Formats: sequence, structure tokens, C-alpha cells
Amino acid sequence: MSRVRIALAGVGSCASALVQGIEYYRHRDAAAHAGLMHARIAGLAPADVEVVAAFDVDRRKVGRPLEEAVFAAPNRARVFQAKLPVSGVQVSMGPILDGIAGHMADHPEDEAFRADSAPPVDVASVLAESRAEVLVCYLPVGSERAVRHYAEACLAAGVAMVNCVPVFLASDPDWAERFRAAGLPLIGDDVKSQVGATIVHRALARLFADRGVALDRTYQLNTGGNTDFLNMLERSRLASKKRSKTESVQSQLDARLDDADIHVGPSDYVSWQGDNKVAFIRMEGRGFGELPIELELRLSVQDSPNSAGVVIDAIRCARLARQRGLAGPIDAACAWLMKSPPVQMRDEEARRALEALVGDGA
Ligand SMILES: NC(=O)c1ccc[n+]([C@@H]2O[C@H](COP(=O)([O-])OP(=O)(O)OC[C@H]3O[C@@H](n4cnc5c(N)ncnc54)[C@H](O)[C@@H]3O)[C@@H](O)[C@H]2O)c1
Repeated sequence: MSRVRIALAGVGSCASALVQGIEYYRHRDAAAHAGLMHARIAGLAPADVEVVAAFDVDRRKVGRPLEEAVFAAPNRARVFQAKLPVSGVQVSMGPILDGIAGHMADHPEDEAFRADSAPPVDVASVLAESRAEVLVCYLPVGSERAVRHYAEACLAAGVAMVNCVPVFLASDPDWAERFRAAGLPLIGDDVKSQVGATIVHRALARLFADRGVALDRTYQLNTGGNTDFLNMLERSRLASKKRSKTESVQSQLDARLDDADIHVGPSDYVSWQGDNKVAFIRMEGRGFGELPIELELRLSVQDSPNSAGVVIDAIRCARLARQRGLAGPIDAACAWLMKSPPVQMRDEEARRALEALVGDGA
């Protein structure tokens, strides 16, 4: 049976949920069990995704077998598939660059990153030796240089990229063109979770507009207790995430809201929440007779599996694109699966475009 060989840059909570999910669905009939948008894409089931290389910089992960590293501190993804097969993959030491925020040192060991002191590997060589086809980038928000370093390695080694981080590659015309010229698919940027705050907020923004209600003001506040939220306490690292999340909502409106009337972003780190992310959305508008309408919503999710349910499709779309000789950003996949695609679409339009791309999954 055909398989798609992937590499992971960052073995954090999202990678943990993805690796667990690959094994979870290996033993279950997709039609009878919740959680997948597609049983098959390009003929591939989730279990046909094989991790062949992994990079991290944390001393509790580097050098360890992947099936142990995904459960190492400070990962907080809930364990829903404890038994993992022997992968034969040892986590390689990546170049740290700007991957670890300085304030992590002020937080307890089991909550924060701790750098390993091993020399970094040559990422492009490891990718080439592993014969990886797709690299999934799961680095912390704000790792601008590190994400670009992995993107360069993909270009050098002939590897497609799924960029789950709000460092703009697919939505940057220069990077998009470099992947196109190299004949490599690129799906990004910043993964849009299965049913997360972004897609819910977008859908509600469209609902207001489609029903003739003027949206005057809105906010989306998010709290969580994983290292993604801890990392984003450093406000300088948060800027790209805020932009990605805000523009994702703005893109669904008929007329943009003034910056002062929209506030969307990660809001605080609450350690005891662990991987449970809670989003609070408020929308204020005017309906018939210009009379007020207010909406308040609280969404509670397990953050990391919520993203893995989308990444499992992005990986298989990257393989499909490779098979078909498509290169550069794959617009339909970027628009449906990512918050900051090069071409923003209404979600229903993006879903139809994605279905047209993946066909019946065969
Ligand atoms: N629902 C979601 O969880 C969701 C949604 C959208 C986007 N994302 C994004 O996905 C990314 C990963 O999220 P996560 O929750 O797994 O984060 P995480 O903090 O759990 O994992 C990041 C991992 O990257 C490692 N790392 C840091 N610098 C590195 C480097 N230079 N090279 C290799 N590894 C390095 C860290 O040690 C850690 O293991 C984040 O940017 C996050 O914002 C997540």
C-alpha cells in the first residue's frame, strides 16, 4: 500500500496529537468513529501517514524515540492513544535560532521549554536521507528565523511543506514563488482548527452579514495552559498570530471593521487549563430598525487534537498535489485548512474547492 513519508519540525503538543491520531485511526473504521473530515485523500487513510524524521531542541525530546518524545514534558496534549508502535525515528537536534522565548526560563520545568546543548544537525541532509516527502512545521509562534530555516531546508531537499505556524510563507509572494519554481507544494499558513475559535467566528461574521445585520464590534478572547499559550505571553512573539487570527475574521466581512472595533487574539496563559483552550466571542450588531443584537459564545476544545484533525488532511493534500505535479501554494487546501492562505475564500467556497481537489478520495 502507498504511504506518505513526513518529517516533523517541533515535537510539541500538536505533533503528539497527530502521531497519536495516526495510530488511533489505524485500528478504527473512519466511518464509525468521529473526528475525520476525509477517510481517504489520494487513496491514503490516516494510518498511511508515516513519520520518518523529527526535529526538536528540547533536552527531554532530542535523541529519544519519537513514540516517547511525543509524551515528554512540557507537552500537554491529552493522551488518547497511549500505545504507539516503535517508529525507528529518533528526534534530531534542530537549530534553535529564535525557537525558544527567553521568558520560558522563568517558568517551571514541566511547563516550559528547556534547550538541549547538542550541536544541531544539517536539516536538509536529514530530510534527504529520510526520503521525507512533506515537512510539517510545528514551531512556536514567533520563530521567524527558525521556520524560514526549515523552509530553506525543504527547498534544498525537495520536500513539500505544511506550515502550521503564523510565519508567513504561503501567503508571502516571494516564498510562494520559490516553492512553485522548485516544483514543491506549500500549504499554509497557520492551521485553522477543526472547530476552533477562528472558523466559528468566521461563520458567525458571515451569518450576521448574510442576514442583513451590521456588525459594529467584536472580540475573541482565548485562554489555554499549553506551551503555545505560555510562549505567546511574550507580546513581541504574538504579533503574527494576532494578525493571522484577526485578518481571518476580517476576510469574511463585506466591509472591514476599524481596527478599534475588532480584537482577536490569544489572551492569557492559565496553567491548570493544560491543553483545554477556551474561547470567548462577543459580537455587537444592529438588525432591523437598527435595533441592537448581541451574541456571546463560549467554546471549549482540546487544542492540539483540534489542529491535528486538519493537519491529517493537509499532509494528504500535499501528497495529492505532488502526484498531480502541482507546485507552490495549493489554494483550495490553504483556504479551507489554514487561517492565512494566499487567497482567502468564504468557508463554504473553500470547502467546495477542496472537495473538487480531493474528489472521492480514491
Ligand atoms: N490548535 C492548535 O493547537 C494550533 C492551531 C493553529 C496553529 N497552531 C500552531 O502550531 C504550532 C505548534 O503548536 P504546539 O501546541 O505543538 O506548540 P508546542 O509549544 O507544544 O511545540 C513546539 C515545539 O517546537 C520545539 N521547538 C522550538 N524551537 C525549535 C526549533 N528551532 N527547531 C525544532 N523544534 C523547535 C519546542 O521544543 C516544542 O517541542 C504553534 O506555532 C501553534 O501556534 C496550533
